[in-house]
Amino acid sequence: MKPSRRVPIGDFAFTPEIRANFEKIFQTNRVTYGPFLREFETQFAAIHQRKYGVFCVSGTSALHVALKILKNYHNWQDNDEILVPALTFVASSNVVLHERLKPVFVEIEKDFFDMDPSRIEENITPKTRAIMPVHLFGMPCRMTEIAQIAEKHGLVILEDCCQCTFGKIENQPVGSWSPMSCFSTYCGSLIFTGVGGLILTDDFDLQIRTRQLLAHGRDEKYLSIDDDDKLNRPDLLEEVVQKRFAFVDLGFSFRMTEFEGAMGLPQVYNIEWINRQRCENAEILISALSDIPIFQLPSDRPNAKRAYRMFPIKINGTKKMRNSVSFFLERHGIETRPLLPLLDQPYYQKLYGNISEQYPIARDVGNTGFYIGCHEYLEPEDLEYAISVIHEAVKGMY
Ligand SMILES: Cc1ncc(COP(=O)(O)O)c(C=O)c1O
Repeated sequence: MKPSRRVPIGDFAFTPEIRANFEKIFQTNRVTYGPFLREFETQFAAIHQRKYGVFCVSGTSALHVALKILKNYHNWQDNDEILVPALTFVASSNVVLHERLKPVFVEIEKDFFDMDPSRIEENITPKTRAIMPVHLFGMPCRMTEIAQIAEKHGLVILEDCCQCTFGKIENQPVGSWSPMSCFSTYCGSLIFTGVGGLILTDDFDLQIRTRQLLAHGRDEKYLSIDDDDKLNRPDLLEEVVQKRFAFVDLGFSFRMTEFEGAMGLPQVYNIEWINRQRCENAEILISALSDIPIFQLPSDRPNAKRAYRMFPIKINGTKKMRNSVSFFLERHGIETRPLLPLLDQPYYQKLYGNISEQYPIARDVGNTGFYIGCHEYLEPEDLEYAISVIHEAVKGMY
């Protein structure tokens, strides 16, 4: 049976502003790094109170590049340890493995599902180098406490903000609590560009290092085709010709085109509205689902401003109940995802065996949680439909 409605976890529209930007690209014929990317990076950084933003192909590549830079900069050795939450999207800890570092998992909090600051210190060893707080489900982590622990033990923080564009804690934006922070602009994010990710920093040199690594590890003297303009200057001609093909580091090819910048820019300008719509949708869902006693619905952490990438629901019950609810929703056109089980993923089981047993809260949330969309493209009728299907799905469970 075809569902009467579809409620996706994210959506997108080619608005008149985006179309007008594309038209400018067609006219100027500028496709590689140019004014749209530059402005998108600057504005995205500004809404998080950072000086520099660097756009790249995904949140994962942003995390990978940032971690590689921090590893080199601080001279971390292979197998040095990075603290990551025991519940997150696989990319957070995959990049640690890619960089030949060791992810050490930290138990999460019951209420908000992110890394529990009170469980960090028990995991610190002489090999610990960094903490990676992941602002999950749009809720900023308890950054003041995490920053205090990092300072006490001389650890670096690398924020994974891939699920929390525009969130705030203690009146300070996520992404501004660590020397480098990483964002995603993939499906469901407040700002969507098809694929995409950003690295933010206040440090000019880290920004240059990032641009170098995204472009094959090129010499910093030649990072975009604008550097070709220097060919007209006799004093710089020789240097540019030489440096254009000089690779000083083991880099990646993670650059974006003007099109993604042109898509993202109008959304950054509209971020307050996007966030407000999502918060209002979440409020509607919370109030209409609060009569379901087996649901743990999102709540507000004191001093935090949530930025919903998705709407998380945990069932106080079993994995079987979660699966039954999410299959029912999917059959009725409501898209769902599980709440990010990490350590039970086949690859992680292959690496570490059954370690998820050591993290009972993360395991329970991974087994019994799911999320749906609450984005700005949902109409009141979509929300009404989702609310009624969810009530149907849990009938007889309590
Ligand atoms: C917490 C977290 N980190 C990293 C990523 C990776 O982002 P991307 O899909 O843009 O590579 C995601 C993606 O959803 C995520 O949720």
